[in-house]
Amino acid sequence: MATDFTEDTAADAVIESFAETPDPRLRELLTSLVRHLHAFVRDTEPTIAEWEQAIEFLTATGQKCDDERQEFILLSDVLGVSMLVETINNRTGGATESTVLGPFHVVKSPRRELGDTIDLVATGTPCVVRGRVLSADGSPLPGAELDVWQANDQGFYDVQQPDVQPRANGRGLFTAAADGSFWFRTVVPSHYPIPTDGPVGTLLNATQRHPFRPAHIHFIVTARGYRPLTTHIFVAGSPYIESDAVFAVKKSLIKEFTSDDPEQAARYGLTGPFALADFDIVLEPAAS
Ligand SMILES: [Fe+2]
Repeated sequence: MATDFTEDTAADAVIESFAETPDPRLRELLTSLVRHLHAFVRDTEPTIAEWEQAIEFLTATGQKCDDERQEFILLSDVLGVSMLVETINNRTGGATESTVLGPFHVVKSPRRELGDTIDLVATGTPCVVRGRVLSADGSPLPGAELDVWQANDQGFYDVQQPDVQPRANGRGLFTAAADGSFWFRTVVPSHYPIPTDGPVGTLLNATQRHPFRPAHIHFIVTARGYRPLTTHIFVAGSPYIESDAVFAVKKSLIKEFTSDDPEQAARYGLTGPFALADFDIVLEPAAS
């Protein structure tokens, strides 16, 4: 262990202090963290006041978290780290692409029957989302579970408006049919701002970044023997589709929400204008 601290030897001294860490992965992570963190400090040479400000920012980020608000996920999201981790961990060959979980999967979605609506309010443009859950060779995955959640037509999740929206509005847990198919009713979601009343909002404001996410519906899809998939579908043409505040858009996940004819509407028990989105989901086998 070094006894004489210098700018040049500090990183090595700290890394050396972790040399006896029994878990090799933990040792690797800490070694790299110290190397990059020290390099960042040497590169930017923060003042004492700036470092204190950084500590206060992270402290405030933690203090903003509660059961239904996760400011650290939000911070990870706006720095692009959530998407980087997600993408590194889902290098797929032909399976549906993943994207971020986001901070609003905070309520267990209620189980619903295929064809049920997840919209409990009936404002906004009615919408049907349908598709099949398949393996890479095209065979259906009956019994696959689809956990879906979305903002309403005003861009708010239920947990953001406990006095306005009924609990579990915009949420549902569905089971794919014997042929792997699923369909549910909802309303076309709106684009929305991520919460800006916390430290992440302060960061966006200071950097003149907008807080908006393009309209999307979240999915977590699971099937026995397959890797769980966390993803969204994005509404084609939504504002901010080119500048998502959390960098989560992948082209393959942008879907047309097409207006359909009255006959199709009737098929789904709807009258008047509605939108139809198709989303076939391909899962990868779980690693054995
Ligand atoms: Fe979302």
